[in-house]
Amino acid sequence: MKKLLVTAALPYSNGRPHVGHLAGCYLPADIFVRYKRMCGVDVKYVCGSDDHGVAIVLSAEKEGKTPQEIASFYHDIQLENFKDFGISFDVYGATSTTESHKALSQEFFLKLFEKGFMEKNTTKQFYDESKEMFLPDRYVKGTCGYCDAAEQNGDQCENCGKVLDPDHMTDVVSVVSCKPASVKETTHWFLDLSRFESDVKEWIENADLRDHTRNFVSGLLGAGLVKRSMTRDTSWGIPLPIDDPEAEGKVLYVWFDAPIGYISNTLQMLKEEGKDPEEYSSWWKSDDSEVVHFIGEDNTIFHCVIWIAMLKAEGSYTLPKGVVVNNFLNFQSPGEKEEKMSKSRGTAIWLADYLEQGGNPDSLRYYLTAIAPERARTPYQPDALLQRNNTDLANVIGNFVNRIVSFTKKYVGEEAPTYTDEQLSDLDKEFLSTFATVKEKTATHLDAYQFKQALETVMEFARSCNKYVDEKAPWVTRKDDMDTTRVTLAVSLHAISFLSALLAPFLPFTSEKMRSILNLEPCSDWSGADRALPEGLQLGETVILFEKMEAEKWLPQDGVDGA
Ligand code: 2FM
Ligand code: ZN
Repeated sequence: MKKLLVTAALPYSNGRPHVGHLAGCYLPADIFVRYKRMCGVDVKYVCGSDDHGVAIVLSAEKEGKTPQEIASFYHDIQLENFKDFGISFDVYGATSTTESHKALSQEFFLKLFEKGFMEKNTTKQFYDESKEMFLPDRYVKGTCGYCDAAEQNGDQCENCGKVLDPDHMTDVVSVVSCKPASVKETTHWFLDLSRFESDVKEWIENADLRDHTRNFVSGLLGAGLVKRSMTRDTSWGIPLPIDDPEAEGKVLYVWFDAPIGYISNTLQMLKEEGKDPEEYSSWWKSDDSEVVHFIGEDNTIFHCVIWIAMLKAEGSYTLPKGVVVNNFLNFQSPGEKEEKMSKSRGTAIWLADYLEQGGNPDSLRYYLTAIAPERARTPYQPDALLQRNNTDLANVIGNFVNRIVSFTKKYVGEEAPTYTDEQLSDLDKEFLSTFATVKEKTATHLDAYQFKQALETVMEFARSCNKYVDEKAPWVTRKDDMDTTRVTLAVSLHAISFLSALLAPFLPFTSEKMRSILNLEPCSDWSGADRALPEGLQLGETVILFEKMEAEKWLPQDGVDGA
C-alpha cells in the first residue's frame, strides 16, 4: 500500500476561518485522511498558513500591525479553530516561519532559473503615482477583462477564476490611494507555461479530478497557456535568490512559494516528529507515495496548471495523484435570495462564533458534508442546519442510540447482550446482512472523494436501524418474550457500534461519544468496523449526542442578527 500525503490549501493568514473555508477543503480532506488512517494507510495531513502576498500586507496596513504580526496572529487563530472542529492536521506550519521554507523556495526558483525556465522580461505593472509604488495583485481592484465582472482583485477574478494582469483589466483603481492606477514598466522573471502544455494535458487526463475541474482546466489549455511572472515588486515575501541588480527589492510571487509550503511543512512535520527531515523524499519523490491536494475552486489554476508546470520544470518531484476541488459555499437566509458569502454583508459564519454560541462542531461537520459543494456552488442555509441537526442527528442517530442503550440497561442490565446465529430471525439476518454492503458502499464513495454520497450512505443505514428496531418493537416483546427482546437489543447494540465506526471520519467527536457509551475504544480500524461486540461488555454512561438547535437562538429574529 502506498504512502499518502494529503494537503489542504494553505489559507492566507489575514482573517478568521468561516464555514466556507471548512466546507471548501479542510473538512473533506479531514474526512478522507481519517478514513485512510482507519484503513491502515500511512497517511499524513499537511497544512499551514500562507503568510506572504499582498493580502497580508494590506490587512497589516489596515490593522496598524506588521505583516509578520498579522500572519502570526491569524495563524494561531486558524490552528485553534480548525482543531476545535476536529481537523486532524499532522502539521500546521506557516510560510513565514517554517524553518526550511525560505531556503526550499529559493532553491526551487534557482533550479528553474539554472535550467533556463525563468525568463527575465520587462513588463507592464499597475503603478500608484501618488504613493510612488508598484501595485501588484490585490493592490488594485478593477473590471475583469475576460468576463466583465466589476470590483475584482488584481490577482484573480472571483467570478470566472482567470488570473488577471494589466492587459486584462479595466477601470483599475489603487486600493492604497483609491485613485486610478497608471501602468509602468518593470522587470520580472517569467515561467513560460506554454512549454509545459503537453505535460499539463497529460496530467489532467490521468489525475484524480472531478469533471468540472477537468473541464475548466481543459478550457484553459484550449485558450493557450502564457508566460506568468513569478516575481513581484514588494518587500514582504521571499527575496529572489539571484545575483542581478534588477532583482533588488523584488520577492517571489506568493503563488510561487505557497505550494512549496506543502513540501516545507512536510519537512517541519518530520522535524516535529523527531525524524530525519531528509525523509521528505519518501513522501515527495518516491513512486511509493501519492500526493492529493484539496482546494477551493479559486485555487484551481494554481494547482492544476502553474504548480504542475513548476513541478515538471523542477523535475525531481512526483506529480500529484489528484486535486480535489470544491466550489464556493454561498449563503441564503430563510426567504431570501442566495448570495455570495461576504464579510461586509455579515453573511460569513465564523467558526469561532459558532462554537462560542454553543454549537456542536459535529453538527456543522455533518451539515457541511451533507450539502458539500462538490459539483456546484451550494447555499449555506442557517435554517437547514437546524433542521438537519434536529432530525438527522438528534432524532435519527441520537434517539436510536439513546433508546436502545437506556432500554437495554433497564430491562437487560449493564452487560451488553450478544447473539448467536441460531437465535436470529429472518428480519435480524436481513438487517445484519446489510452491514457489509453499507461498509463497502461507503468506502467506495470515500475512495472516490464523494463525501456527500458517502455520508448519505451512512445516514441511510442510521435510518434503517430505526426501522429495524421499530419493526422488532422490543418494548412490546419484552412483555412476554425476553429471549427475542435480548436478541433485538444485541443486534441493535452491534448496529450502534458499526454506526460509530462508519461515522468516525465524518463526526469524530460523536463517534467517540457513541463508543464511550458502549465502553469501546475509539474506532481505528475500518476493516473491523462491522465486528460484533465482545462478550461480557459492560455498557458505559449514556450521554446526549446532539442537543436540539432552537430557532430562537440560532436564526435571526425580527431584525436581530443571529449566527
Ligand atoms: O486562496 C488562498 O487562501 C491561498 N492562500 C491558497 C494557497 S494554497 C497553496 F498553494 F498553498
Ligand atoms: Zn472574470
